[in-house]
Amino acid sequence: MQLPNYKEARKRTKEEIKKEFYSYNLDATNIGLNKTYFVKTYGCQMNEHDTENIKAMLEQLNFVETDDYLKADLIILNTCSIRENAHNKAFGMLGRLKHLKEEKKNLVIGLCGCMAQEEKVVTDIMKKYKYVNFVFGTHNIHRLPYILEEAFKTGKQVIEVYSKEGNITEGMPIKRANKFKAYVNIMYGCDKFCTYCIVPFTRGKQRSRDKDDILKEVNELVKEGYKEVTLLGQNVNAYGKDFDYHYTMENLLEDVAKTDIPRIRFMTSHPWDFTDQMIEVIKKYDNIMPSIHLPVQSGSSKVLKLMGRRYTKEEYITLFDKLRKIPNVTISTDIIVGFPSETEEDFNETLDLVNYCKFDNAYTFIFSPREGTAAAKLEDKTTLKEKEERLYKLNETVNKYFLESNQRLLGKTVDVLVDGPSEKERMLCGYTDTNKLINFTGDDSLIGQIVKVEVTDAKTWSLDGKQK
Ligand code: SAH
Ligand code: SF4
Ligand code: F3S
Repeated sequence: MQLPNYKEARKRTKEEIKKEFYSYNLDATNIGLNKTYFVKTYGCQMNEHDTENIKAMLEQLNFVETDDYLKADLIILNTCSIRENAHNKAFGMLGRLKHLKEEKKNLVIGLCGCMAQEEKVVTDIMKKYKYVNFVFGTHNIHRLPYILEEAFKTGKQVIEVYSKEGNITEGMPIKRANKFKAYVNIMYGCDKFCTYCIVPFTRGKQRSRDKDDILKEVNELVKEGYKEVTLLGQNVNAYGKDFDYHYTMENLLEDVAKTDIPRIRFMTSHPWDFTDQMIEVIKKYDNIMPSIHLPVQSGSSKVLKLMGRRYTKEEYITLFDKLRKIPNVTISTDIIVGFPSETEEDFNETLDLVNYCKFDNAYTFIFSPREGTAAAKLEDKTTLKEKEERLYKLNETVNKYFLESNQRLLGKTVDVLVDGPSEKERMLCGYTDTNKLINFTGDDSLIGQIVKVEVTDAKTWSLDGKQK
């Protein structure tokens, strides 16, 4: 048994990052024979990408996927710790699974992902959720076959969570969720330690993947017919900063742009590390999509300082203005309201910033204290009601600009990578180069292609169009 430990998780040393290669050598490679599995993912793209690895490992052990968890023999919850409600969702599901297990004695339940890295979650599982068969963390996903074998063989609760800075595992099998769009990890972990954020504790030290491994993966995806890659990391602009040679995000972006992949996206960008050279590379290559996610978090320099974001409102705006000069660009953001000590004036500064930037999209949140983080210890006098009112006001403001941003495209022709049938009857849906959802009429044979679509209607969260 190995339990998570926050003290260890917080450590950052100069110790070299080891690259490991995935392999497994089991007696019981057939533990999945005649069994079905279901994996539920609660978190970000990184978490979704981990699920793609988890599914492929399970299939190597001969499990077969089912989309109905009630029918599954093995259920894994890949969890997220970012806010309280992500926690509540996972614990709610564990509650439902308890009843299911009372009916299906042989059901095997596992929990992994960021919540598994939290000390309190794991002690709770040991005490109150004894029916959970196994827990593993974000640093040892590659150990899943062994953990499963032990859980199946012994029938005991298996807990294996490492709290370390982290290595890089190459060569993990993968079952991609989409046939045209792929996530490619370029780095793991985060060293920024924004005071509200749990990620540096749950994902370990910032560590970049070798460029050759990344380019090899992208080239294979091109060969398989993929049309889009999203380069993933908590803070992709810091890519390469941990190398002892000079190779940074602008070099990587340029090298990926020189492959034959038609579309490149990247996320998330921390404003601190966004260089002018990166902007030049984005402008230079047509296959780098003009759509940038640049979380601001707050429009008050006082709050930004307390958040440990390392930039002021003015510095954010300077960068924002430079990015706006990229032809055709859309810029989205994340904003937190109700950070401890945020006053009405601070909040109004956030509204002012939104009114200045007119973001094309934004994800807005109420501050959620996360155990172990610095901000969780700050005094917080604002009531939940006040925070909800701020969120409501903020949403009203950001929504207005989403609509305006969409309306600017009316009558224009946009490039769309067709995802599949839309929720609307007999329509297709896809995303524009600027990352806007569009529904349009068209034939199913277009799925997976990049097509020209004329925008005929603009709503707050989507566009309608017709194929040109
Ligand atoms: N690495 C990314 C963010 C990943 S988390 C970055 O630095 O931009 C995604 C978003 O969740 C954050 O941008 C932030 O807005 C929000 N978030 C993170 N921790 C939070 C917390 N404790 N309470 C509320 N929102 C939070
Ligand atoms: Fe969290 Fe900040 Fe790291 Fe983003 S940069 S993952 S918000 S600590
Ligand atoms: Fe959640 Fe972990 Fe991602 S906390 S947002 S799943 S890195």
